[in-house]
Amino acid sequence: MVYLILCFFLGFFNSSLLSLSLPLPLTHLCHPEQSSALLQFKSNLFCSTPNPAQICDVPNFLKTDSWDEGTDCCKWEGVVCDNKKGNVISLDLSCSGLSGYLQSNSSLFSLQNLRWLNLAGNDFGNSEIPPEFGKLRSLTYLNLSDTELTGLVPPEISFLSEPISLDLSQNHPFLFRNHDFNMLVHNLTKLEIMVLDDMNLSVVLPYSFHNFTVSLKHLSLSDCDLQGNFPTQVFHLLYLRNIILRHNPNLIGYLPETNWSSPLRLLDVSWTSFSKGLPDSIGNLKHLKTLNLDSCVFVGSIPSALGNLTKLTLLDISSKCSKGKFLIDVFPSSAFNLTSLNFMDFSSNFLRGTLPNNISGLSYLRKLQLYANLLSGRVPGWLFILPPLYLHSNKLNGPIDPIQEPNLVLLNLPFLDLSFNNLSGNIKSCMLVKLRNLSLLDLSHNNLLSLTSCNYGANSTLPMIIEFHFSSCNMQRFPSFLNASKYLQLLDLSNNQIHRSITKWEAEGWENLTTLNLFMNFLISVEKIPGKHLYFLELSSNSLRGPLPTPPQNLSFLLISNNELVGEIPSKICNLSFLSVLDLSKNKLGGTIPDCFGTFGNKLSMILRTLNLNGNQLEGSISQSLKICFNLEVLDLGNNNINDTFPYWLDTLTNLEVLVLRSNRFHGGIQKFNRTFSFRNLQMIDLSRNEFTGHIPPELFENLKSMKDIQVDESGPEYIGGDYYQDSAIITMKGSDFKLERILTSFTVIDFSSNHFKGSIPKEVGELNSLIVLNFSHNRLAGNIPPSLGKMTALESLDLSSNKLQGKIPVQLTVLTNLGALNLSHNNLEG
Ligand SMILES: *[C@@H]1O[C@H](CO)[C@@H](O)[C@H](O)[C@H]1NC(C)=O
Ligand SMILES: *[C@@H]1O[C@H](CO)[C@@H](O)[C@H](O)[C@H]1NC(C)=O
Ligand SMILES: *[C@@H]1O[C@H](CO)[C@@H](O)[C@H](O)[C@H]1NC(C)=O
Ligand SMILES: *[C@@H]1O[C@H](CO)[C@@H](O)[C@H](O)[C@H]1NC(C)=O
Ligand SMILES: *[C@@H]1O[C@H](CO)[C@@H](O)[C@H](O)[C@H]1NC(C)=O
Ligand SMILES: *[C@@H]1O[C@H](CO)[C@@H](O)[C@H](O)[C@H]1NC(C)=O
Ligand SMILES: *[C@@H]1O[C@H](CO)[C@@H](O)[C@H](O)[C@H]1NC(C)=O
Ligand SMILES: *[C@@H]1O[C@H](CO)[C@@H](O)[C@H](O)[C@H]1NC(C)=O
Ligand SMILES: *[C@@H]1O[C@H](CO)[C@@H](O)[C@H](O)[C@H]1NC(C)=O
Ligand SMILES: *[C@@H]1O[C@H](CO)[C@@H](O)[C@H](O)[C@H]1NC(C)=O
Ligand SMILES: *[C@@H]1O[C@H](CO)[C@@H](O)[C@H](O)[C@H]1NC(C)=O
Ligand SMILES: *[C@@H]1O[C@H](CO)[C@@H](O)[C@H](O)[C@H]1NC(C)=O
Repeated sequence: MVYLILCFFLGFFNSSLLSLSLPLPLTHLCHPEQSSALLQFKSNLFCSTPNPAQICDVPNFLKTDSWDEGTDCCKWEGVVCDNKKGNVISLDLSCSGLSGYLQSNSSLFSLQNLRWLNLAGNDFGNSEIPPEFGKLRSLTYLNLSDTELTGLVPPEISFLSEPISLDLSQNHPFLFRNHDFNMLVHNLTKLEIMVLDDMNLSVVLPYSFHNFTVSLKHLSLSDCDLQGNFPTQVFHLLYLRNIILRHNPNLIGYLPETNWSSPLRLLDVSWTSFSKGLPDSIGNLKHLKTLNLDSCVFVGSIPSALGNLTKLTLLDISSKCSKGKFLIDVFPSSAFNLTSLNFMDFSSNFLRGTLPNNISGLSYLRKLQLYANLLSGRVPGWLFILPPLYLHSNKLNGPIDPIQEPNLVLLNLPFLDLSFNNLSGNIKSCMLVKLRNLSLLDLSHNNLLSLTSCNYGANSTLPMIIEFHFSSCNMQRFPSFLNASKYLQLLDLSNNQIHRSITKWEAEGWENLTTLNLFMNFLISVEKIPGKHLYFLELSSNSLRGPLPTPPQNLSFLLISNNELVGEIPSKICNLSFLSVLDLSKNKLGGTIPDCFGTFGNKLSMILRTLNLNGNQLEGSISQSLKICFNLEVLDLGNNNINDTFPYWLDTLTNLEVLVLRSNRFHGGIQKFNRTFSFRNLQMIDLSRNEFTGHIPPELFENLKSMKDIQVDESGPEYIGGDYYQDSAIITMKGSDFKLERILTSFTVIDFSSNHFKGSIPKEVGELNSLIVLNFSHNRLAGNIPPSLGKMTALESLDLSSNKLQGKIPVQLTVLTNLGALNLSHNNLEG
């Protein structure tokens, strides 16, 4: 898309550029003072910058190399003189690898006859833009794009009343004051092209755009941090061809109902706060080639007049990241008559209706995105001829006939994503043969769909496939037909009904598999885990029996929770040098935790991030070798039979965020916190249901920095873990246990319930103003409830029940407005 837009306006500029710089026969020699001004300008700069600037799509061309004293400067590279008087009138030094400062006393500003000046794509080392530009009164073209100039644009720039084209884009941070901008708009009455992309116009009031000259043809203000209301009048400007306001999230505006500038070719208001609807009058823009409304907050329907825009090559009406949606009853099927379209995106709207059975246009389409809508009906055959296809998350139903259709030749479709629909019917593996170039097939989450292997032709099925997603599709058998697929890297068959085992034979040939997800099936055994490149193996929630299967060497993620594994955890697990997440929770594993995790020189100790052994039958003490696993973030040993004292030594693990020891036989005191900053990143500590005794030490709460003053990140929720795996945990909150499938990085818990703690509740706990769950219930805590608890403003669940607390309930607790559950029962409290 970017490419398209670029091509488009490059072409446009070239034509206006040509008209200004046609080579003319030279009859005069260069004036000596101008020649020496140029040489002086050159001598103040270096011309050696090896890397071209961002905007230069060609390597630097060191034009000033040809500038030799004593030769006619009118013949120098980049210099053009006036035919009659021999004055230098044009200087094009764009992308010439110049670097150095551009100063007020630069001899450049003595070239009073300059009409055309292009210094774009050089590096003026963050100098401020000299006000002397204002002296070049004859300039009609000024291009300072991507020149590493900085600071304020000087007001003198509006003395240049002649410019037809002004480009100050890609200089950062480069600011315009409102008043200076107003003057500029007011004085530059001949302006046709204005490009200020990536400048900071946050203090410029868009209201001043009212005064743009009628001659304006091209206005590009993307990424300018514009604020406020964009005046609709700009769209009425008689000659306006291109308007680009992309990525100004605080720019409010709407598209005009009438009086559009009829030559309009490019309209891009994507990632702005343009709202209301798309008017019918859009259909009048016969020349429109690009219409980009992505992620605006538009509502309403899409006019069928869209079908009149026959020149359109890019149409993006998606709402990928915004609250506003186009609501519509029927899909604008007129869009399918747009014969010139290259790119069409209607994704993430609420489009209803069915797709037409036949279409006449779209022969140039390169990308079609209709995902995340409410489209229903069958998947029409023509879709399979257009590459690639993103139709996931709709309500499409019925069988996918085109795959089965014997007469349809399916050629080059590279991606087919029909996941999260209501598709049904049986797909026979041999039917997929037609999808010869398919590299991604995603049919996941189609409840009524099934896939069966044909008995022949196994070696020719999906030869180019890289990713095969068939999650939640009622699949009964392992798709062994895929083992002839040489390039297969990702196989997701999670949440199906694959029974019994995966045999050696079935798993053969997958040398290149990196990700295998068989979560939630009915597997009893896995004879062979395929793939020496495998780094993600998910076998959780099956019925695997016996000892832990031998995992391949290069695994990073080994997830086999919720099975029926028995025996000890073999110490050869420590030979997995790349293991970052090991989740063997909810099995029947016994014995002790192997003491090899933290062997010095063992790569695993540097990499292990999550160790989850919750819900087994592990005994003995915790291996102290864990204390050199410096990257450990999650240690969950809950629900075992571990008999040990509190592992203080874990305080060397400064990255530890979650520590769960619940329901074991931990005993002894926890009061020995004599180091500051230990456990400073801990956000969940669960010691409940053990046999801990003694006082709860105040020092602990002083250390828990990560439960104080948390700034909630505005950019959206963040979870512990990464893209591939997010940690889960079971917590007790508001009186009952529940499972956190993922743990928000801002979620904080202290659970010391059901132990034998005595003494009073340390007042220091009140400093934990970001703590959300606090449970000290079922202990022997006595004394008063400290009033400081009233400072725990984030608290949502507080349980101090079944202790020996006494005295008045502090009134301070009444200010805890987030508190959804408070249990103080079974104490000796008053009030
Ligand atoms: C321009 O001014 C700077 C100081 O601001 C000085 O160092 C430099 O020599 C001057 N250059 C010319 C060409 O006069
Ligand atoms: C400014 O110069 C750069 C580099 O030559 C070019 O890409 C850009 O299109 C020019 N801008 C205008 C408005 O001509
Ligand atoms: C506008 O340009 C004229 C010269 O054409 C100049 O005299 C005047 O000062 C400029 N006005 C502003 C506000 O810059
Ligand atoms: C633009 O400049 C203003 C004022 O200097 C500043 O507050 C703002 O953060 C800047 N915007 C961007 C996107 O840098
Ligand atoms: C437009 O320019 C006129 C002066 O010609 C000025 O009075 C007016 O305030 C300007 N309008 C805006 C919106 O800046
Ligand atoms: C549109 O143009 C017509 C004729 O020039 C004019 O009467 C009308 O007021 C304009 N409408 C808007 C909304 O500017
Ligand atoms: C679109 O084209 C049709 C037929 O050419 C015409 O009847 C209709 O008025 C046009 N709509 C718009 C909004 O231009
Ligand atoms: C598309 O064009 C065909 C003929 O060119 C016409 O019959 C059909 O009605 C048009 N469809 C839409 C939705 O405009
Ligand atoms: C399988 O591949 C071999 C070698 O490429 C070929 O000879 C054979 O015909 C293929 N079998 C089928 C059933 O396509
Ligand atoms: C793995 O992929 C490479 C190409 O990336 C291919 O040459 C090789 O045959 C593949 N291995 C298997 C067993 O398919
Ligand atoms: C825990 O281990 C100690 C020895 O380290 C032993 O004396 C004690 O009986 C064990 N407790 C339980 C409940 O097994
Ligand atoms: C206090 O810390 C030091 C070193 O950090 C340790 O050697 C000592 O045993 C600790 N004291 C107690 C009582 O735990």
